Amino acid sequence: MFARFRRKRIHPVLRDLLQETHLSVNDFIYPLFVKSGVGIKEEVGSMPGVFQMSIDEIVKECDALKQLGIYAIILFGIPDVKDSVGSDAMCEHGIIAQTVRAVKAAHPEMFVVTDLCFCEYTDHGHCGVLDPVLHTVDNDITLDNLARQAVVHAKAGVDLIAPSGMMDGMITAIRAGLDNAGFVNLPVMSYSTKFASAYYGPFRDVAESSPSFGDRRSYQMNPANRNEAIAESLEDEKEGADILMVKPALAYLDIVRDVKNNTTLPLAVYNVSGEYAMLKMAGRAGVIDYDKVMMETLMAFKRAGADIIITYHAKEAAILLQQ
Ligand code: PBG
Ligand code: ZN
Repeated sequence: MFARFRRKRIHPVLRDLLQETHLSVNDFIYPLFVKSGVGIKEEVGSMPGVFQMSIDEIVKECDALKQLGIYAIILFGIPDVKDSVGSDAMCEHGIIAQTVRAVKAAHPEMFVVTDLCFCEYTDHGHCGVLDPVLHTVDNDITLDNLARQAVVHAKAGVDLIAPSGMMDGMITAIRAGLDNAGFVNLPVMSYSTKFASAYYGPFRDVAESSPSFGDRRSYQMNPANRNEAIAESLEDEKEGADILMVKPALAYLDIVRDVKNNTTLPLAVYNVSGEYAMLKMAGRAGVIDYDKVMMETLMAFKRAGADIIITYHAKEAAILLQQ
């Protein structure tokens, strides 16, 4: 009677047969950071193993990813010139448009996702155009620019657009912009429930996108709010998002499950920079078994309800999944 659970844990084959959740290399999207130049591959101190790369290096990196079975990447751009509106992001010759063209030309089988936002492109580091009176992002002017940026990415040949700026109405605006330009078959993955999180710190070092004043709490969500988290994702579903997302992932697994239970759309999680850095640093300090903690963490995202995991661990996890 007391062996009711344990008798099924004794034989390793039976343990495998009964495993409820499975992790696969097909679950991963790998983030890459692009800057201009040639032959540039610079590691950033706060994220060991993550690099700023020039376009030629990104193209080479895709060879390594394919070897590991990783076919999905998400691109972030670091432009040469930043200005008040983030012009580089809306330019056909901007860093992301150029990178998408280069990657798709060299690797047509790669699935290229672009992050759609302005914080890497504005001189003030906020996710859109500023309202001079409110000193925060002007929602509706930014919507027009997001639609422009989406069409630029579409023309460059992107496979999936992922708006991350948390503007109200962004999916409606982007969908309309894409449809009017003839890109009715280009899907949108919304960062639909994105919290104002301190876990993004290392990313902002790599992407050079820290706000020069204030913070993002007037557009990203309060980490304390659960009902609002569900409502945000459901709103984006209504506006026509094809895939939803919860971000960050690890401290928000309750929200992942809540959103999953309230939608029939596929759900992504973003296993963010601070989550990655914590495991890396603890592993390097010999405090945890990095590989095991990483795989346990990635499995937890799937168990919580994620269909897609955007993660800096993708390459390391892919190697372990091959064994
Ligand atoms: C841009 C964006 C951010 C991240 C993804 N897209 C940063 C932010 O909102 O400040 C964070 C990703 C990470 O921490 O790994 N809006
Ligand atoms: Zn942003």
